[in-house]
Amino acid sequence: MRLNSPQINLITRACLKASRSLIRDFGEIENLQVLSKGPGDFVTSADKRTEKILIEELQKAHPEYGIITEETGIINKSNTKNRWIIDPIDGTMNFLNSVPQFAISIGYEEDGEIKCGVIFNPIMNEMFCAEKGNGAYLNNSRIRVSNKKKIKDALLVTGGPKGASKIKDKIFSEYINVSKNVSNVRKFGSAALDIAYVACGRFDGYWQRELNYWDIAAGIVILKEAGGFVDFFEEDNSTPLKKNILATNPNIHEDLRDLINKKD
Ligand code: IPD
Ligand code: CA
Ligand code: CA
Repeated sequence: MRLNSPQINLITRACLKASRSLIRDFGEIENLQVLSKGPGDFVTSADKRTEKILIEELQKAHPEYGIITEETGIINKSNTKNRWIIDPIDGTMNFLNSVPQFAISIGYEEDGEIKCGVIFNPIMNEMFCAEKGNGAYLNNSRIRVSNKKKIKDALLVTGGPKGASKIKDKIFSEYINVSKNVSNVRKFGSAALDIAYVACGRFDGYWQRELNYWDIAAGIVILKEAGGFVDFFEEDNSTPLKKNILATNPNIHEDLRDLINKKD
């Protein structure tokens, strides 16, 4: 890895440490206690254990930093200048089904902007990371978004709706509209890895509604540093941690936006 700022080193170390128990847990899924958080949304003891290790490691270096996490909520709320944004397991449903498509995702935000991020799939041993101004990497190799020019040739990825979603019909009809106009659409079940895969050119673009900030914080900087475009649509200022994201290579961004806005 050619990125070696203190923040990246810290996040990387925390991910590697937390991933040791995560890999063990993945090998023993049937023994994990599963608690339901609501329809279509589960939290396992592995989520909580992983998050605890990540928080402990990051706090050793910066006890005063704010932290936004999926499982614990907000820590050091008054510090909005320096914040870690943590999803201990993005892709819990895959994890629970022994599908090795999940990742630890950690972003570091300074003055409201994501400065660096790491997304680590411990089973595939793939670590995506980026730092503003210094490029994006997959393990030791620099990554870039694809160069696909035409939306009709694009291979896209998306996700949702969640079990409890109130806009399922809207999401399904959007999916149909987009699918009819592109090469194909995949659903892999980890928003963080979906964006990382756009960043390294495996997919040409990604869109999804009803995400949380921790699903995508690290992915935002990784995609931008890989030459991609990210923005948000139909933002609701009353729930700033909820996001509808559009993340693509630069060539197909406008076309995908038009397809999403198109009504049948
Ligand atoms: C979920 C995954 C999934 C996405 C859901 C997220 P979780 O995160 O990113 O791909 O479709 O909206 O909630 O619950 O596995 O951390
Ligand atoms: Ca998530
Ligand atoms: Ca999660």
